[in-house]
Amino acid sequence: MMRTLALSAFLAPALVLCASSDEWKSRSIYQVLTDRFAMADGSSPSCDTSERKYCGGTFQGITNKLDYIQGMGFDAIWISPVVENVDLDGTSNSLIGEAYHGYWTANINKINSHFGSADDLKSLSAALHNRGMYLMVDVVVNHLAAIPTNTSDVYPMTFDYSTLQPFGGQSSFHRQCFISDYDNQTDVEQCWLGTPTAPLIDLDTENSTNVDIMNNWVKNLVSDYGIDGLRIDTLKHVRKDFWPDFASSAGVYTVGEVFIGNTSYAAPYTEVISAVLDYPTYFAVFDAFTSTSGNVSQIAEMAQQAQNQYKDPFASGSFVENHDQPRIQSKTSDDALVKNAMTWPFINDGIPIIYQGQEQGYQGGADPANREALWLSDYVTGDKPLLTHVTTLNAARKVAISSNSNYLSTKATFYTQSSSNALAISKPPFLTLLTNGGSGDSSTEWNVPGDAGLFNGGETLVDVLSCDEVTVGSDGSVSAKASNGQPKVLMVKGMGEGVCHDNRNAAVRLGSSCLSFGMVIVMMGTVMAMMLF
Ligand SMILES: *[C@@H]1O[C@H](CO)[C@@H](O)[C@H](O)[C@H]1NC(C)=O
Ligand SMILES: *[C@@H]1O[C@H](CO)[C@@H](O)[C@H](O)[C@H]1NC(C)=O
Ligand SMILES: *[C@@H]1O[C@H](CO)[C@@H](O)[C@H](O)[C@H]1NC(C)=O
Ligand SMILES: *[C@@H]1O[C@H](CO)[C@@H](O)[C@H](O)[C@H]1NC(C)=O
Ligand SMILES: *[C@@H]1O[C@H](CO)[C@@H](O)[C@H](O)[C@H]1NC(C)=O
Repeated sequence: MMRTLALSAFLAPALVLCASSDEWKSRSIYQVLTDRFAMADGSSPSCDTSERKYCGGTFQGITNKLDYIQGMGFDAIWISPVVENVDLDGTSNSLIGEAYHGYWTANINKINSHFGSADDLKSLSAALHNRGMYLMVDVVVNHLAAIPTNTSDVYPMTFDYSTLQPFGGQSSFHRQCFISDYDNQTDVEQCWLGTPTAPLIDLDTENSTNVDIMNNWVKNLVSDYGIDGLRIDTLKHVRKDFWPDFASSAGVYTVGEVFIGNTSYAAPYTEVISAVLDYPTYFAVFDAFTSTSGNVSQIAEMAQQAQNQYKDPFASGSFVENHDQPRIQSKTSDDALVKNAMTWPFINDGIPIIYQGQEQGYQGGADPANREALWLSDYVTGDKPLLTHVTTLNAARKVAISSNSNYLSTKATFYTQSSSNALAISKPPFLTLLTNGGSGDSSTEWNVPGDAGLFNGGETLVDVLSCDEVTVGSDGSVSAKASNGQPKVLMVKGMGEGVCHDNRNAAVRLGSSCLSFGMVIVMMGTVMAMMLF
């Protein structure tokens, strides 16, 4: 038995090597804020987001709650940065609080003990892989953090640079200057993020010793913990030509944060790592669906720019909330608008990402209010309309992927509508009809002409979200009218009715071929181990 386990563990990295962009495209990601997702002991302590302190979530807490995530049909999670952070006493620095979010690295070679041990992280990774799920870890290269050693108002500030490990002191970092000109890319890359109260000490990523340290570090991190993908923080704050070697050292899918509403600025980053988190389209979707006067055409405009400019638009991270942005429900409580917005990540070209708490209807505004502890929801799964909504959408996307072998490489098509509230998007087998008319809207109409060639004349379609049916016109055209402003995700009835009636059973049916291959190897290992005895 011991030998079986040892051999399986030895073969486990086979799973990691598989996790390329293509392996990620069919997946959907649940974003976990490690400190705020689950307590190891299942308890539910109070957690005041405004205090910006550790609330107590851990790796083990996540491991214990994977049923909740997988039950919604997600087959990957993205967790907070895992490395040791600067230990700030929240009471002595109430303005910035503590490093509970994980973005204030002190030592890249240690695990953040607030989140658990290195073994706890390995156990989380193994538990995910046992379920056929992937682990994405957030990583920060651009900066580290330390407490200023002189609290008088001095500039440049003084730090004990020896706390920043494994680097070589002050000479390992860019000289202190806060970014002042976002149109000057050198300033963006070599000056510092943060403020004099919360300075982020900018690593000199032009220094070849630092480059080697980071490349070796990420290679070991991925293999030590069986990581399947990386989310890279503050990507645009490090020179572009740093990234290809870093990404190939990691050897897995890499998706980066390029915080900008401009696809022309973001696109070059899709040439140096796998993909970017699609912020330009996010801004358009957020603006369009947080009010009934938003512009839905802007979504089509941005999404088409992304299609034309990103190297691999199918690998983009597609999201409508994250831990840095105000939640949609901090801007609108109209459930129809919220559901339209939440439909977007599942029916466009990228990989869907849902940020923890959105499914529970969380409403926090800007950071830190948007970092609510999930345990305060009691992880309720019944009678939670948004949780049902994402579960259905995950299931529908799995059916779409399995029924159309080109789904993951076919660009979404947008059809101009006469109503300014309406957006019609085809990505076969889906025809998605969105509206920002709001819950009072039962008049918006969508019309998709027959010459689009989407369906056969007379065919019956079903909206997987409501089970309502739509009959295709004899010429193949589709016309539908809004019902209380709800989104519609149409598929031919034979394909979609199982999803709308029984979204639970339909979720997570597809294993990845990569994982089954890995499992075969593990099984062969088991057989070999038995033969050895
Ligand atoms: C802190 O900085 C101030 C202003 O430059 C200086 O006068 C003071 O001596 C410094 N304190 C220490 C402990 O270095
Ligand atoms: C480059 O970085 C290394 C390691 O972080 C450091 O020891 C060295 O002083 C730096 N070199 C220069 C020229 O700044
Ligand atoms: C751009 O920023 C760098 C770093 O702050 C600075 O040295 C340089 O003078 C700036 N260039 C221009 C044209 O402003
Ligand atoms: C978008 O980014 C490109 C490339 O950096 C830049 O040339 C352009 O001016 C930007 N557009 C806007 C509207 O800022
Ligand atoms: C909405 O966005 C589209 C596409 O960018 C643009 O052409 C149109 O002028 C915008 N409409 C309004 C009312 O701003």
